[in-house]
Amino acid sequence: MPALFVTAVGGFVALGVFVVMYRVYLSPLRHIPGPGPAAVTRFWYVRRLLKGKINVDILAAHDQYGHFVRIAPNEVSVGHPDGPKKILLATLHKAEWYKIATFPDGRFFNTFAETNPKTKMELTRHIAPGYTMTNLLQAEQAIDSNIALLLDWLDRFANSGHPIKLGDYLRYATNDIVGDVLFSRPFGFLKKGADIDGCLANNEVQIAYVSVMGFFRWVHVLLLANPVVTWLGMTAKKNPDGRYDVSAHWFRMLAENPGRMQRHEIDSAAFNAISAATDTVAATIQAFMYFLVRHPEFRVRVQAEIAAAGLEDRVVSYADAQGLRFLQACIKESLRLFGPVTMGFPRVAPKDGITIGDQTFPEGTILSVHPWVIHLSKEIWGEDAREFNPDRWMGDDVARLEKHFIPFSLGYGSCPGQNLGRIELSKLCATLIRSYDFRQVEPEQEMQYEAYFGLTAHMPACYVMRQRMGV
Ligand code: HEM
Repeated sequence: MPALFVTAVGGFVALGVFVVMYRVYLSPLRHIPGPGPAAVTRFWYVRRLLKGKINVDILAAHDQYGHFVRIAPNEVSVGHPDGPKKILLATLHKAEWYKIATFPDGRFFNTFAETNPKTKMELTRHIAPGYTMTNLLQAEQAIDSNIALLLDWLDRFANSGHPIKLGDYLRYATNDIVGDVLFSRPFGFLKKGADIDGCLANNEVQIAYVSVMGFFRWVHVLLLANPVVTWLGMTAKKNPDGRYDVSAHWFRMLAENPGRMQRHEIDSAAFNAISAATDTVAATIQAFMYFLVRHPEFRVRVQAEIAAAGLEDRVVSYADAQGLRFLQACIKESLRLFGPVTMGFPRVAPKDGITIGDQTFPEGTILSVHPWVIHLSKEIWGEDAREFNPDRWMGDDVARLEKHFIPFSLGYGSCPGQNLGRIELSKLCATLIRSYDFRQVEPEQEMQYEAYFGLTAHMPACYVMRQRMGV
């Protein structure tokens, strides 16, 4: 028995040594620079994820190693300016990590979890009609009624002189808006002015869980994504009193495509939308406010632009906000400098490999584009890449810059809800900056956030004052 045990341990150690030697000295990626442990194990990346600052850690690695960084035995993060075009626009398979998003259990694939571009595009066709700009704008009044509740809270804080944690209220607003747009029913966070049943706190844990478990999906299937949990039941239902909302479009698609579309696609679409639509928008609005609090010269310009347009409605309309060129430049700059999706977009190199710059990667290599790496690249954006400068979006160079602007990703894997994102960002940023001034309680305090797959932001506490011109 001891002899057998010793042999087994010996064999195991020998195998481990072989795997390490192979990854370091024989792998086709051996010449790609990167932190030593990352060449041997995925845990280097997972450890950075768990720290909650994956964005800055990967950026620092590119600052040190250049365009290509080996961040796991079989994954290279690409910061080359051609990366987004060559990787994201090339309809490559998505990496296995996305399969974490099967829902309600590992058997059910949806638009996010599906890694084959062709199948994913078919699934997207069932869901996309809900997200057209025309359909979403039919919910503008409902969006306005939620924003009005948010403004009521801001007025209360302005009157009392107590500081506000803006991030909390923005998260209440973005959650209620997505509830209303999808199901004609806000979740009630703004009415209550609180995190109901700790849902939002839970979300933060869920994002960290998903980000890490994507690399260990079998554990997730054992714990949660299995038929037993599905049997316990958790499905979206049509709201009989609803408007013709986003979910109504999905149920229509289901009725029109019997046999092709399946019921669980609607549950997944709802689950994915709620997970993806809330912290992203709330973080971007906080970034917008945070940068403008720190740059009064730009804040005054946005406020002057809105005043000149004479926008008097309590909530600025999407159409009006679209016409505010400098406001839009500030929103774009916030999305660039504080992009709310912080993990890379991983794709798999195809048969015959792929060449980017002076490197060729063999079939099967995972190539990921991290938005923070592209958005903060001095090679692309110039020496002031890491500064807030909305004027870069006002010059003649915009067409070139747009090609490197990937907050919603690019190609077939890009954000299906970006129209709703743009509507919310435009309306909320315009309304808030027009009607209120914010001042940090502790002016030196920096933005707090946790960055896993996406980012949850907590803007420092602020005093809020109504603007004289504010309606
Ligand atoms: C500032 C706002 C937003 C940003 C920057 C953003 C960005 C992104 C990005 C980059 C992805 C792709 C992630 C990947 O492939 O790894 C994504 C996916 C997704 N986003 Fe957004 N998003 C935003 C708002 C929204 C909103 C408002 C919705 C509303 C429904 C939404 C719904 C989704 C969904 C459902 C997915 C999964 C995509 C799929 O099925 O393939 N997002 N988003």
